[in-house]
Amino acid sequence: MAEPIRVLVTGAAGQIAYSLLYSIAKGDVFGKDQCLILLLLDITPMMTVLEGVVMELQDCALPLLKEIIATDKEDVAFKDLDVAILVGSMPRREGMERKDLLRANVKIFKSQGAALDKYSKKSVKVVVVGNPANTNCLTALKSAPSIPKENFSCLTRLDHNRAKAQIALRLNVASDDVKNVIIWGNHSSTQYPDANHATVKLHGKEIGVYEAVKNDTWLKGDFITTVQQRGAAVIKARKLSSAMSAAKAICDHVRDIWFGTPEGEFVSMGVISNGNSYEIAEDLLYSFPVCIKNKTWKIVDGLVINNFSREKMDLTAKELSEEKETALEFLSAA
Ligand code: NAI
Repeated sequence: MAEPIRVLVTGAAGQIAYSLLYSIAKGDVFGKDQCLILLLLDITPMMTVLEGVVMELQDCALPLLKEIIATDKEDVAFKDLDVAILVGSMPRREGMERKDLLRANVKIFKSQGAALDKYSKKSVKVVVVGNPANTNCLTALKSAPSIPKENFSCLTRLDHNRAKAQIALRLNVASDDVKNVIIWGNHSSTQYPDANHATVKLHGKEIGVYEAVKNDTWLKGDFITTVQQRGAAVIKARKLSSAMSAAKAICDHVRDIWFGTPEGEFVSMGVISNGNSYEIAEDLLYSFPVCIKNKTWKIVDGLVINNFSREKMDLTAKELSEEKETALEFLSAA
């Protein structure tokens, strides 16, 4: 059995964490022979709730889970981490301006970035889930200068899975038969779910999704808006935001970082742009198609982008660069 790895989940008393922790602790993410120490961070008023989560994890009697450390202190939570999954963030309250939300989150992710820089291993893999996920990820990355920028990513895998599922439902196939959808840009309603490069296995043959669906109007219309607005639709129905599907997507995202993506397949992930891919400005934390090997992602370059896609990719880039400017102002003022 390998040495235990140290995995942090923040927002550990929240609803996503409640679905996520069991999957991680039972070996769904890092493998069935990788034991782990779970570090759980939440804010002080949530410590009693967190105690309950710890009790439940203990009661699961999971053989891989060697230790649980629950805390409201960053110096404890970020110590010697191998993986940091940053789920906790400041939620939008009624009447709250977008700017105020951004300001509150810059404060959180600046502090957590600095804690990563100070206390975690330099090899730590950091995944940001808490919204606004792309910009929070950028804030953490900027606040942790001693950790390689490539170690940071934000979650757009839920949107990716939603896109896969919509196509699979439409064609009445299993979601696994659909490959290589792309989510471009921001994890927000400006994201661009793109099926131009996606394929599907139909009657034992792999063909393009556009060819299989035979309905460009749907793929350029309702498909896109359904995926963009899926989060809001779940909230409307459940009166709570996506949690089970978000936790599953986090597992997919982190498992792919750990073990790599299958040959010939790519996934969507928010990563730092170096300015050389798809004309997206340098230093934007933008969701791209990536493949992963040896725990290192690489943007899948060279896909042909049509005018329809170009416009949508630029629109979400514009939103992200505005978010970034505001966040950087707060970051330098804080
Ligand atoms: P929740 O409100 O149930 O839980 C959030 C937890 O974070 C709370 O326990 C809260 O006390 C904690 N928290 C707040 N500030 C913290 C801090 N500074 N340090 C540590 N913990 C802190 O929310 P839920 O449903 O678990 O969602 C968490 C976040 O994930 C939200 O921002 C949500 O918008 C985002 N999200 C992102 C998705 C994505 O695809 N990127 C998908 C779904 C949700």
